[in-house]
Amino acid sequence: MDRSQLEFLLGPGGRVLLDDVDSSYAGTNSLAVASRLRQRYPGDLVAAALTQVELRRRATDKFGNAAAGMFFTPNGLEQATHRVVATHRAERLAAAGGGGRLVDLCCGIGADLVAAAAAGLQVSGVDSDPITARVATANLASRGLPGSVVVGAAEDVDLSTYDLVFADPARRGPRGRIFDPEAFSPPWSFVEHAVLGGTAAGRGGAVKTAPGIPHARVPAGAEAEFVSLDGGLREACIWSPGLAGAARRATLLRSDGGAVSMCDADAPGSADARPVGAHLYEPDDAVIRAHLVTGVARLVDGWLLDPHVGYVSSDRRTDTPFARGFEVLEVLPYRVRALRAALRARGIGPLTVKKRGVVVTPEELVSRLRLTGDEPGTLILSRTPHSAVALLVRPHRRPDR
Ligand SMILES: C[S@@+](CC[C@H](N)C(=O)[O-])C[C@H]1O[C@@H](n2cnc3c(N)ncnc32)[C@H](O)[C@@H]1O
Repeated sequence: MDRSQLEFLLGPGGRVLLDDVDSSYAGTNSLAVASRLRQRYPGDLVAAALTQVELRRRATDKFGNAAAGMFFTPNGLEQATHRVVATHRAERLAAAGGGGRLVDLCCGIGADLVAAAAAGLQVSGVDSDPITARVATANLASRGLPGSVVVGAAEDVDLSTYDLVFADPARRGPRGRIFDPEAFSPPWSFVEHAVLGGTAAGRGGAVKTAPGIPHARVPAGAEAEFVSLDGGLREACIWSPGLAGAARRATLLRSDGGAVSMCDADAPGSADARPVGAHLYEPDDAVIRAHLVTGVARLVDGWLLDPHVGYVSSDRRTDTPFARGFEVLEVLPYRVRALRAALRARGIGPLTVKKRGVVVTPEELVSRLRLTGDEPGTLILSRTPHSAVALLVRPHRRPDR
């Protein structure tokens, strides 16, 4: 989509075309829709409208019903923060910034920017890509929110006029995902200095990054918040020392609105490692990435199976949002032939295999076991200080939330 196509789609004629495409396009009939519309509109505008409608439909996962009035680029949608995660961050920034001025240094199509404006901050966005910046402006307008977006480089922004700074550097390049933080755009050394290092005036800032960020990259005094949504690890957000409330935090969000958080003050530095008890707990990935597994051990009155593996055990059942719980039915032999015999004797067929700290490919193990029974089973394989263990478990039924 070039600039003139985008400007057309943003205007009144574009709205009519988008509505027409939306009401007649069912995903598989794009050729028929395009050839009908090409009698009334130039082909490039029809193609741009079809792409926009397709992107809006895909965007429903991240933006819910609001996606129907928003604008996207393929890259912008892919990199955009899910609305639940963006709202969580925006509310935390707003609570720190008291309605102050926030600059989003690489705002993309504006998912975080829109959430910050909706949380009551006075927002300014910057993006180096002109089309993306224009889309972000349109997305603020689509929600009726105030704010401005300019085209520019994060590195050139005078931060002294803002209370809060946010940055979500691009972690994708023409050849896919970028793992080296110095190759992010803008690079990690820039955001570390400008956003987390306190050169900004005001209260400080936050940087969104990949959840796999090495802990050693987190500057002293900053907070590393690892965020999951509905059990899936989404991102890390690094908070500058002025906004940090902990060294490490795990925040578990749910798309139905639930949110819980645990930080290093809730987790003792170490926990016993002992053989498995009556229940096993698999902490949420945000808890594991935040190195807070001992916090789950404390919550369930339990211990670790191994000091370096993220499984917790206990003799009692505790329902906690921070971990999935399982009743331990049996400890089985950790050898394929013996395991096959034990599982067959119990009539097990469909098998879910979970593992930590052992070199096993679950799919390969399932196919080597050649189970034929009807009973579904769950097998957990884990390293322990002495040897690996195979545990036949039954998931705790979750209490109604
Ligand atoms: C990960 S996306 C931001 C997504 C955004 N937080 C959202 O949720 O919609 C990163 C954006 O940074 C922009 N960008 C890359 N390098 C930049 C730079 N040096 N200055 C400003 N923007 C930059 C890219 O064009 C891209 O739109």
